Amino acid sequence: MNDLLHFLDQSPSRFHAVDCLRRELEGAGYTPLSEGRGWSIVPGGKYYAVRGGSALIAFRVPAGEARGFMISASHSDSPSFRIKENAELAGPEGYLRLNTERYGGMLFAPWLDRPLTVAGRVLARAGEGIETRLVYVDRDLLMIPNVAVHMNRAANDGFKYDPKCDMVPLMGLGTEKGAFRAVVAEYAGCKAEDILGTDLFLCPRQKAMVWGAGNEFVSSPRLDDLQCAWGCFRGFMAAEESASIPVFALLDNEEVGSLTKQGADGTFLADVVARVCAALELDRAAATANSFLVSADNAHAVHPNHPEYHDATHRPAMNAGVVIKHGVRYATDGVSQAVFTALCQKAGVPVQHFANRSDLPGGGTLGLISTSHLSVNTVDVGLAQLAMHSCYETAGAKDADYLVQAMTAFYAASFREEDGRFTLSN
Ligand code: CO
Repeated sequence: MNDLLHFLDQSPSRFHAVDCLRRELEGAGYTPLSEGRGWSIVPGGKYYAVRGGSALIAFRVPAGEARGFMISASHSDSPSFRIKENAELAGPEGYLRLNTERYGGMLFAPWLDRPLTVAGRVLARAGEGIETRLVYVDRDLLMIPNVAVHMNRAANDGFKYDPKCDMVPLMGLGTEKGAFRAVVAEYAGCKAEDILGTDLFLCPRQKAMVWGAGNEFVSSPRLDDLQCAWGCFRGFMAAEESASIPVFALLDNEEVGSLTKQGADGTFLADVVARVCAALELDRAAATANSFLVSADNAHAVHPNHPEYHDATHRPAMNAGVVIKHGVRYATDGVSQAVFTALCQKAGVPVQHFANRSDLPGGGTLGLISTSHLSVNTVDVGLAQLAMHSCYETAGAKDADYLVQAMTAFYAASFREEDGRFTLSN
């Protein structure tokens, strides 16, 4: 559990999450592959590639002939507010505020009245080139103050927040122009005038924690989807070798539709698979047919105050195992459900099922989007959580370990499809 909390705290932005995993892979002897060069891949080797600074794919090649790919995909981004380019809003009354835009479909209210800061990256001039610098302004810098109930009597009557007005963070009073850029430059370790581009997002200052009468809950910013990313990564790192190639994929921009070069609607995963097949002289179509993808993105637990939002017979609970998601916006079908269920049964991991209440549309995730580029058997799974897309979410303290166990077994297995029969072996 401490390892998960550490990962969550060390990942205030998607760029930090990728950097965290990249450093661990380097420490474990993985070879970085640059997409801009030829790839030399050999049996027994372990590798990773990063795209866009916010997506990462790691894989290992078995010593013997490889049959296919055992893949997990999760996402690095979370709903937040992006800091606009011309960030400083001067006034009224001497206040300095920051101009932001919505990134993803967040709950507004939790962002109010809590210490915030910014995290992300800057692109800074470095000699003849441009270099990336990760930034986390490690201090209580910002707050979005509520309006007092005395002035907004409708505050508790289903108030509608206006993002251009109600969600604007306050940074200072009587503060000089240019102060925001200066703080960012200070924490990026460069000069303000050398900053040529930025990707900066608001993030809550509150750390991840375990709580409850029996320590049954874990709460943190970005549990969706860093909890699943962590579970898949731990399983990937722990798994024994099989006849297939284990692939860990962390992709960006799920919260805004995945339609970027580093998102699930980009070619990153398909490009990696194609390059591995070419390097190992594998028949790509055959390898794809013998591949399996676990799309791991958090699921909704039954809410203690609003149990009515769940379907009558699909009611995921926290600390009750990995959730398989069903419905038209998910990639799960009978085959992928059966294969994943059999795998979990063998690994001793409980599974439960989610389906939307029939009058609610629910949300989608990267499973279906990914299969449009790499058409492999895919199951959508997740861990049950509360308050999805709040800036401080809650999940079950035991569930991440269930996902680690399931994914350790998954990556140690090899999938084969032959004449309508499906086998998972080592
Ligand atoms: Co998600």
